[in-house]
Amino acid sequence: MRILASLSLAVLALASFTAISQTPSAPQAPPHMVTMQMALPQMVAQTPPMGWNSWNYFASKVDDKGVRAAADQLVSTGMKDAGYIYVNIDDTWQGERDASGVLHPNAKFPDMKALADYVHSKGLKIGIYSSPGPKTCGGYEGSLGHEEQDAQMYAAWGIDYLKYDLCSFIGAVLEKQAPNDHAEQMRIMIAAYDKMSKALKATGRPIVLSLCQYGWDAVWEWAPSIGGNLWRTTGDITPEWDRIYSIISQQAGLESYAGPGHWNDPDMLEVGNGRLNLAENRTHFTLWAMLAAPLLAGNDLTAMTPNVKSILLNRDVIAIDQDPLGRQGVRAYSDGEVEVWTRQLQGGAIAVAIVAVGDSRYSTHPFHLNLVKLGLHGQQSGKDLWTGKPITLTDRQPIELESHDVLLVRIDTPR
Ligand code: GLA
Repeated sequence: MRILASLSLAVLALASFTAISQTPSAPQAPPHMVTMQMALPQMVAQTPPMGWNSWNYFASKVDDKGVRAAADQLVSTGMKDAGYIYVNIDDTWQGERDASGVLHPNAKFPDMKALADYVHSKGLKIGIYSSPGPKTCGGYEGSLGHEEQDAQMYAAWGIDYLKYDLCSFIGAVLEKQAPNDHAEQMRIMIAAYDKMSKALKATGRPIVLSLCQYGWDAVWEWAPSIGGNLWRTTGDITPEWDRIYSIISQQAGLESYAGPGHWNDPDMLEVGNGRLNLAENRTHFTLWAMLAAPLLAGNDLTAMTPNVKSILLNRDVIAIDQDPLGRQGVRAYSDGEVEVWTRQLQGGAIAVAIVAVGDSRYSTHPFHLNLVKLGLHGQQSGKDLWTGKPITLTDRQPIELESHDVLLVRIDTPR
């Protein structure tokens, strides 16, 4: 009896986990599916994945040595302890397929299994990149027609994360097989992602599946149902405020699609890249945390300035991103060129981010905070997460921010 009781409790717990991890529109799994999922639980990405990805800084210059150096840096800087555990190789690692169809890495990656072992030996996980098309965006070998073979190979190497990037699938498959038929193209594309998702599951290894198809066809509506753990919501990020702000703006309204196991992905971090200034780096990181976005550093970890390091290592801000409730933040209101974002956190806490999005410090001056619009009443005691100091917010309080800067406050007991 006791065994039966705990078994049914386990089934109940799993059924409710399944329900939580699906979007409202996704179909509920029938009872036999629940049993199948018990055999193969994919408990990956319960909070947004954190780590490093090679693309934003190294692009095609990524190699075995650089990936090992990134892994070493994650450990020595304390980033690993702060939660950055995935070391993700992006495009340009692929060589040629042999007569049996086995894809070999190119000369930059002499031994992928040895590299994965090295990364794992540091207590980290390793990610890789491919495309459902014949070629990747960089023109390297994709997985079309070799999905199961590639998935098995990733698992044999010990890969923990796959970014699957649409790229040449558009021209080589969608436009050829269904010219001018958008509905059919969408069906074919979803089937291609589903195919790789099933191939990864069949390996029995928990592998995070990251969809990269630039946010087309309301990917947030269908990605979780085919096993996607995160999906890009836009085209590529660049290390410029205008691009970063444009991406931020495109996240408003997507909040209901994110939750444990399935996240909106506004792209990898540019903190420390290009000419982003201190305020812009800070605001970029803040908004990614408010958005429950994956935190994949995209800079050269071997050459971080103290400012960049302190942004990426701000544990209070990381805790907002990684909040176990997994509720993505919302744009509560904007006033001129100041936006106020809020995020519900576990235990009834909230985070409030006030962002000067405009180019001029005086564009919205003075800005007065409207607490009522945030559902808050009276004085609020919180912590300013960038100074680390206590702060009190009052209604109609004037707040002065430099252009592109942010005030991020955590309020544990909002009133
Ligand atoms: C696309 C993706 C980028 C990166 C490159 C690699 O542009 O969106 O994130 O992976 O391909 O070629």
